[in-house]
Amino acid sequence: MEIEVNQLADLNQAALSLLEFANEEKIFLFEGEMGAGKTTFIKAICEAIGVADVVSSPTFSIVNEYQGNHNQRIYHFDFYRIEDLREAYDIGYEEYFYSGDICLVEWPERIKELLPQEYVHVSITATTPDTRLITFTKI
Ligand SMILES: Nc1ncnc2c1ncn2[C@@H]1O[C@H](COP(=O)(O)OP(=O)(O)OP(=O)(O)O)[C@@H](O)[C@H]1O
Ligand SMILES: [Mg+2]
Repeated sequence: MEIEVNQLADLNQAALSLLEFANEEKIFLFEGEMGAGKTTFIKAICEAIGVADVVSSPTFSIVNEYQGNHNQRIYHFDFYRIEDLREAYDIGYEEYFYSGDICLVEWPERIKELLPQEYVHVSITATTPDTRLITFTKI
């Protein structure tokens, strides 16, 4: 499924479409160049799930935890800075990925070897400085 985002305000609808598309799937991997808009889209998704916490990339900790509607837990990962897969083992990535809670993952390509078999792949491309093409696929 493809969505053209022509303005930031369109992200809220795109987030709802993604959640509907995902259905029962809880793991979302976000690919896109630096500055493509992964964190920004994740903010919109978190808002759609009722997260009131501040959503920002977990730069120092690899993972942030938020709380959404109905006490849902949401884990937001950013593997950009990871230098060794051991860092992922050290945070106990498996307990998050296989928890059944929502996992939103930036820079999943940094931990290719550890990715689960099934997930929703979200690709974000900047078509102009102000517009984005967002593609969802179930893997
Ligand atoms: N849909 C959009 N439309 C217009 N501008 C956007 C959109 N999404 C993000 N931006 C802008 O692009 C910039 C980078 O966004 P963001 O931090 O979300 O990117 P990122 O993919 O998470 O980057 P990184 O790889 O560094 O984590 C921000 O200034 C943001 O406002
Ligand atoms: Mg980011």
